[in-house]
Amino acid sequence: MRLSVIGCGYVGLVTGACLAAAGHEVTCTDIDAERIRRLQAGEVPIYEHHLEEILASARKAGRISYTADAGEAIRAGDAIFICVGTPPKESGEADLSAIDQVARQIAEQARSPKLVIEKSTVPARTGLELQRALAAYSSGGKSNFRVASNPEFLREGTAVGDFFHPDRIVVGVEDESAAADLREIYRPILERKFHCPVHKGSCPSQHEVAFLVTTINSAELIKHASNSFLALKISYANVIADLCERIGADVKEVTHAMGLDPRIGGQFLSAGLGFGGFCFPKDVQAFIHLAASVGVDFDLLKATERVNKQRIDRFLEKVHKALWVVKGKHVAVLGLAFKANTDDIRFAPALEVVKRLLEEGAIVHATDPEAISRTKALFPKVTYHEDPYDALRGADAALVCTEWDVFRNLDWNRAKPLMARGLVVDGRNLYSPKHMRDLGFEYYSFGRS
Ligand code: UDX
Repeated sequence: MRLSVIGCGYVGLVTGACLAAAGHEVTCTDIDAERIRRLQAGEVPIYEHHLEEILASARKAGRISYTADAGEAIRAGDAIFICVGTPPKESGEADLSAIDQVARQIAEQARSPKLVIEKSTVPARTGLELQRALAAYSSGGKSNFRVASNPEFLREGTAVGDFFHPDRIVVGVEDESAAADLREIYRPILERKFHCPVHKGSCPSQHEVAFLVTTINSAELIKHASNSFLALKISYANVIADLCERIGADVKEVTHAMGLDPRIGGQFLSAGLGFGGFCFPKDVQAFIHLAASVGVDFDLLKATERVNKQRIDRFLEKVHKALWVVKGKHVAVLGLAFKANTDDIRFAPALEVVKRLLEEGAIVHATDPEAISRTKALFPKVTYHEDPYDALRGADAALVCTEWDVFRNLDWNRAKPLMARGLVVDGRNLYSPKHMRDLGFEYYSFGRS
């Protein structure tokens, strides 16, 4: 099929690349002309595992193209995926101005009927507003557009694999024809007729992908309800960690046993610095806001958010307790990205930690496998090191902020003599307290005595 993608960020670029790899003809556009220029030149503006190779092969096969002219992109596709940002406003409410802008462009630039698919995360009832906006902006107020919602459930870092091996594909539609079009778009995934870039053709056998057809409102709600539930799970684990510290239990033992109950499940129960990124914090806020706007007080999510914010305070309390005076101390921050396997630093807990350490006069040295260049502009006073051992040289304390494998597998025997003081404050519970103590470290983590 001929598809258009508006917005070449994490969601849009992965969606466009994977749909092209699955055999469709994809035209991508973005308001950022420089980004389009880089993509046209064969550069990949974000780090996402396997993205570079599938973009290169789709380009070679002539199945993906980029244009800064939104009108051209809109006219090129029969179905248009909207993948623009929906950032939070000051109030926490989702800012939908980019979606509105795109609706106007589609209405003005399209020359034939289109299926308009919202993939950006949006509050429930946005699809209905989008339908109204498309009609309002069309000449004569007569809309030639069908609207659908197709929320993404991609995790940054494994987004390409997630796209080809989804747990479920949710399509919110108003009529059967839109569902049929979306089924056709996803047919290669549903019938497993694609060359998997992740497993190179030998994908692990998987259960059938659920293709769920719902109303547009339900599809939009499914996305927010899912993300908020995962955030709630993390905050729950974090409160259990606080309890474990007071009572003298081990949060890893507790959450591991909890997770063996299939009704609970073991994922998203890791205690530590809490969740960050461009999805969870803003989705939780937007969901609270949406609930309030229809008279539902989502107290549970307000608590989720509050607990998450407190994680940074708890972490810095541990740092203060261990270091006493922070001013003038050489602190090595291990990890800047909001989670492992991404260069994304948006709403990363590590950034808040760095900000507060600098405010207190610490001398901050930082390392991250992918996120240094993005962080440099924000914190020019920090000294950055590609090699974690360089960051640790002369450090009074090592602060672990992101769960990268390179940090998990760090040789602390090698690091110890490099450091001025053997002190590790672990915000991601990566190491065994006993092992670290045996190595001679003073070691602090979450929910473990
Ligand atoms: C998330 C959802 O998982 C995905 O389905 C949705 O489409 C977009 O938002 P992503 O933003 O890539 O994906 O992040 P995710 O992997 O879910 O991690 C979120 C945050 O939670 C990270 O900061 C991570 O460090 C933290 N986290 C995760 C914990 O603190 N504890 C855990 O147990 C799991």
